[in-house]
Amino acid sequence: MRSLPIGCCFALFFACAALAQIQYDASRKVWLITSSHSSYAMGIGPTGQLQHLYWGAPLWRIADVPAAQESHDISSFDPHQMLENEEFPGWGGPRYYEPGLKITRANGDRDLVLHYERHSIQENELEIALKDIRDDIEATLYYRVYPDSGIIGRWAVIRNGTNQPITLESAQSATWYMPRGVSYRLSYLSGRWAAETQLNREPVQEGMKILESRLGHTGHNLNPWFAIDPGNADEQHGRVWFGALAWSGNWRIAIEQTPYQQVRVTGGFNTFDFAYPLKPGESLETPVFYGGYSNSGFGEASRLLHQLELADIQPHGLKARARPVLYNSWEATEFNFTEAGQKELAEKAAKLAIELFVIDDGWFGKRNNDHAGLGDWVVNPQKFPNGLNALISYVNGLGMDFGLWVEPEMVNPDSDLYRAHPDWVMNFPGRPRSELRNQLVLNLARDDVKEYIFNVLDKLATEYKISYFKWDMNRTFAEPGWPEVAPEEQKELWVKYVRNLYDIMARLRAKHPNLEIESCSGGGGRIDLGILRYVDEFWTSDNTEAFDRLRIQEGFSQAYAPKLMSAWVTDVPNMNQRSTPLQYRFLVAMQGALGVGANLNKWTDEDTQLAAKMIALDKKIRDTVQFGKLYRILSPRTSDTTANEYVSRDGTEAVLFGFRHSQEYNTVPPIIYLEGLDAHATYRVESIDNKLPNQQQEASGAWLMQNGLQLQLKGDFDSTLVLLHRVQ
Ligand code: GLA
Repeated sequence: MRSLPIGCCFALFFACAALAQIQYDASRKVWLITSSHSSYAMGIGPTGQLQHLYWGAPLWRIADVPAAQESHDISSFDPHQMLENEEFPGWGGPRYYEPGLKITRANGDRDLVLHYERHSIQENELEIALKDIRDDIEATLYYRVYPDSGIIGRWAVIRNGTNQPITLESAQSATWYMPRGVSYRLSYLSGRWAAETQLNREPVQEGMKILESRLGHTGHNLNPWFAIDPGNADEQHGRVWFGALAWSGNWRIAIEQTPYQQVRVTGGFNTFDFAYPLKPGESLETPVFYGGYSNSGFGEASRLLHQLELADIQPHGLKARARPVLYNSWEATEFNFTEAGQKELAEKAAKLAIELFVIDDGWFGKRNNDHAGLGDWVVNPQKFPNGLNALISYVNGLGMDFGLWVEPEMVNPDSDLYRAHPDWVMNFPGRPRSELRNQLVLNLARDDVKEYIFNVLDKLATEYKISYFKWDMNRTFAEPGWPEVAPEEQKELWVKYVRNLYDIMARLRAKHPNLEIESCSGGGGRIDLGILRYVDEFWTSDNTEAFDRLRIQEGFSQAYAPKLMSAWVTDVPNMNQRSTPLQYRFLVAMQGALGVGANLNKWTDEDTQLAAKMIALDKKIRDTVQFGKLYRILSPRTSDTTANEYVSRDGTEAVLFGFRHSQEYNTVPPIIYLEGLDAHATYRVESIDNKLPNQQQEASGAWLMQNGLQLQLKGDFDSTLVLLHRVQ
């Protein structure tokens, strides 16, 4: 918002919910960024350093924010620099906390002290340039505020304006400061293959906690998201500061509590094995680190992030379509399939009204198992004697779109591509090339490799009517050498690989506007807001076992919108040798982007009928689920019952999912107190399976939220869905 006078802020919150304002008080050198959700303030201290001044609930009066002050040394061990909340500190002078930027000059000089140089405000974006006190080395800080969520996207551009090269050893996107003098708790997501996005909570204590990936990709082990609260927030209440780093390579988020009551969260490129040279005139842009604030607990924090992702990050924004229901036979057939077999499955999928039919791994080269063929992206003539187009036309004729699995960043050593270009994989000459799943990683940082991969995918998307790529990435990096460039440039690989990956996706989408992409990395190894600019959904986990999925999905939903969460119904017994009923599996998967990955040839008529019913139901509710507001009511981590409610953006529809793990001692069914409804509205209440025997057909929002619904969930792995439709 450009022209509102400062005094209008108060009215702003109530009259114009989706506005933001960036103000600058020149007399006191204070900036205030305000939306209806939060405010963020900075100021220039007496010697020119940029200081953080406020982050939290909305402020309406910039005059309340005191000008930045200089502190005094407490002792020779406690310098004043450490007491000030410097917004983006260089590593220089007596500064020992996590810096925003650390450099080495050609002559070995490493001192960097950044002071304010200039700033500009353009609509919702603020740009503040900091410059070293001696040299023309600049860090320009960007702040873009998104009015609908109040989330601020922060990144930095580091520029070498000197006539000597410098090397960046740490280039961070931002440091976020929590209000001082409070004991905090950190929430974060961790896991491993087939057990991604598990939610952890632990106290923030003095010292540093590092969340990171050194793996080359985002990783299954930690996800670049955090939330911090004073230890008393829950789903509905309390102050929560949160953030997500938009980077699909080596990332790092350092949560640090200093001895001076500061809690700082610094994120950007991982400093591990990082060295990025900048020649005179060159610059480096860091990833965006998004940060937001919720006054209403973790639930609202998630909804704000979901809003940002759906409206401002994903391709097509809020105009994106809900995810179609897809079929993928990977779990059912793995590599072992034929054209005839796929046609048979396609017929069955079409009868279920599935909309997108996907051929997974195994369609190309000599790919009959995971030992060969990766890199040879030509259709396997044994499996498809009539070519892929014959199958695609057949699938299209059945009324479904066609999708294809690719893993373009990889080669098997047993592939024509590797035999022709053994130098294309990342490697240190003369050292071992560690294989994982019998494959090596192409060095996508090389522009020739990037062009090759773009052309392969472009050719596939041009020759075949492909609506969707499931873009996989099935191993971590090892021996990340790039022998073709000068030794001091080799570590650029970490950054350039990811930039080139993004570039390929952006160009493919621009050239094939109807193409959609799923980001997959052996399940949820590449889920982040960086790649979300180019993909429509994420493959959540290779673990499709429905009960495990409840916790994986709960963790996922902390940071990512349900629309982005691909979820399949697969066969049982599945992982853990667990079997759950088909309705339970469907309802678990219908909380995201529904897919079916079961062997349809094994389904009974009863299974098929139930599946058709559930798919029809999914189509009815998916706009509400995928684009609506999520309320996590009961958690699988803490309750025998899991309950999630989704309310449509316009408030006219809501759906409540309920799951029970194991009833014990014949306990009565749990009561679910609904949320996010209009207390004064009346809703039609409909259970899909009569699990609300005493409920009247209509009830007010007030009644549903205050009295709740007692879902008759009994026995083991029971499930239900309740539909709410606003009638007045
Ligand atoms: C990864 C994916 C799976 C499947 C296989 C194919 O594990 O996550 O869904 O595509 O690769 O090899």
